[in-house]
Amino acid sequence: MTGNQTFTMIKPDAVSKNHTGAILKMFTDNGFTIAAMKLVRLTREQACAFYDVHRGKPFYDGLTEFMSSGPVVAACLLKDNAVADFRQLIGATDPAEAADGTVRKLFAESKSRNAVHGSDSDENAAIESDFFFSKIERVL
Ligand code: CMP
Repeated sequence: MTGNQTFTMIKPDAVSKNHTGAILKMFTDNGFTIAAMKLVRLTREQACAFYDVHRGKPFYDGLTEFMSSGPVVAACLLKDNAVADFRQLIGATDPAEAADGTVRKLFAESKSRNAVHGSDSDENAAIESDFFFSKIERVL
């Protein structure tokens, strides 16, 4: 049984280039409903905590520096089979490997500045949504 929610961030590269509206339209055009959303600039400590699972990896310092370098748009999205369908919509982590028509193919600069985040499991979708949103901030 797969869950019906996922969590996303539109990352600082895409927000600063004013791609937020076009990316949100891709989400909703592809059947995702926005259950919660906010624009927020993470502190370095908050970015480190969010990506704690990657602590110790070679890209961790660069990732957390980048994710705290400007505002992100964080959102909880609803759809049947949300995690897998959303990962298909955003495409591979590296835009050079992303399929045509995916969000990262259209908007990402590189593997580290890759426009959007998407949860990789139902469990992480719940953890990541709880990191950003209280119950009262969600329309679930
Ligand atoms: P995201 O979906 O936000 O989850 C973890 C992020 O780490 C990922 O997107 C990439 O932006 C980044 N990442 C993963 N692997 C690498 C890598 N090999 N080099 C640089 N950044 C990476």
